[in-house]
Amino acid sequence: MADVAVIGAQWGDEGKGKIVDWLSARADVVVRFQGGHNAGHTLVIDGKTYKLSLLPSGVVRKGCVGVIGSGVVVDPFALLAEIERVRAQGVEITPKNLMIAENASLILPIHQELDQMRETSNDGVKIGTTKRGIGPTYEDKTGRRALRLVDLADPKTLPAKIDNLLGHHNALRRGLGGADVDAEALLKTLLEIAPKATAFARPVWRELDRARKEGKRILFEGAQGVLLDVDHGTYPYVTSSNTVAGQAATGSGLGPRAIGYVLGIVKAYTTRVGEGPFPTELDDETGRRLGERGREFGTVTGRQRRCGWFDAALVRQSLKIAGVDGIALTKLDVLDGMKELKVCVGYRIGGEDFDYLPASAGDQAAAEPVYETMKGWAGSTEKARSWAELPAEAVKYVRRIEELIETPVALVSTSPERDDVILMRDPFQD
Ligand code: GDP
Ligand code: IMO
Ligand code: MG
Repeated sequence: MADVAVIGAQWGDEGKGKIVDWLSARADVVVRFQGGHNAGHTLVIDGKTYKLSLLPSGVVRKGCVGVIGSGVVVDPFALLAEIERVRAQGVEITPKNLMIAENASLILPIHQELDQMRETSNDGVKIGTTKRGIGPTYEDKTGRRALRLVDLADPKTLPAKIDNLLGHHNALRRGLGGADVDAEALLKTLLEIAPKATAFARPVWRELDRARKEGKRILFEGAQGVLLDVDHGTYPYVTSSNTVAGQAATGSGLGPRAIGYVLGIVKAYTTRVGEGPFPTELDDETGRRLGERGREFGTVTGRQRRCGWFDAALVRQSLKIAGVDGIALTKLDVLDGMKELKVCVGYRIGGEDFDYLPASAGDQAAAEPVYETMKGWAGSTEKARSWAELPAEAVKYVRRIEELIETPVALVSTSPERDDVILMRDPFQD
């Protein structure tokens, strides 16, 4: 039985949360392995909506254990607030069904402030981040000065670690015209929340190793998407972590063989939040219609998502880079009633044809999409749960996408509700 990693194959918000929630019926453990509370994963279960940012989508399902791996950056304040919010919706969260890697790096208020200062300053490239402090925390992690969850449990060594961290940050803050942060005050705030946050701390690698030995099924839940990957995405307009499937091994503490099947989540059109190139973007009535029908507003920041046609060239590239075995095609219902649909099959850049998006930021900005036009469908795909319920043109659209991206469609999603899914191949059985 293969363990399954779910990753986004576009610029995030593909519907990972819904699919992970659906698949979690077949899993015992759901593991987040990168990103932080920049993610916003929406689950709709019997009409009730759950919005998760840091918590693995599995926590909502009784009997499923949620794990936050060391590849995730954890804001302990946001974590505790989210736990309270989700508990208020009737979900039980205890150290029995939620574990956080003791070696996960911590997002602190200084990181969030730095993210905000950079995004609002007129100097440098504006990325359009979620301003959650994600980038600055990964910088500190790689710079070997980050605080980690386990540090909160050791009040003796914590002051020196804070001094070391603030030595770096206060110099930076002064340069940006900000005020110094007081080490004593930060220590006090951290010690206040330490008992609650460290209650979930565990050697996650060991827990996962044990789960595997016991034959439990593990589902890895990616955040963001391949096009936001710090290596492979549309750099510099990316997030600060690796979002590809290989990160599921690194960010959880299991070897690469733990991942048997990689499921890419792909939206039937394209969206993006924040700045950066987007060749198939539609700044017209069709784009607005996609945004309205698809309710394309960010879960985390409430920002309007940019919308455009399906980009098969870019998705093919993402799937190959991430090593995807099959995809879940989501939000097919949003395309219901459109007369015609365009699919991007390549680009023209400076008079030359490309079947992939080159890495140069200049080329990416200049890329003109080459489209193939398909007939839309008059009927409805909404809430369909079998292939037979789909109008013939919708079937053709899915089949053509499958051909262009050179990857099989394992699932199709037809509404936000948990069970509105067409299952074609079970990723856990493949
Ligand atoms: P994630 O970040 O990849 O988990 O995706 P988000 O939750 O941020 O955004 C996806 C949005 O689309 C959410 O509001 C979901 O409830 C919704 N959604 C997911 N699948 C479908 C679908 O098949 N059809 C429709 N109409 N909405 C969907
Ligand atoms: P989920 O998991 C969509 C985008 C931000 C910005 C860039 C960098 O819900 O799919 P960051 O705060 O990470 O430094 O911002 O990445 N971004 C997302 N876009 N979905 C997400 O997560 C995102 N997380 C970050 O908008 O462009
Ligand atoms: Mg999202």
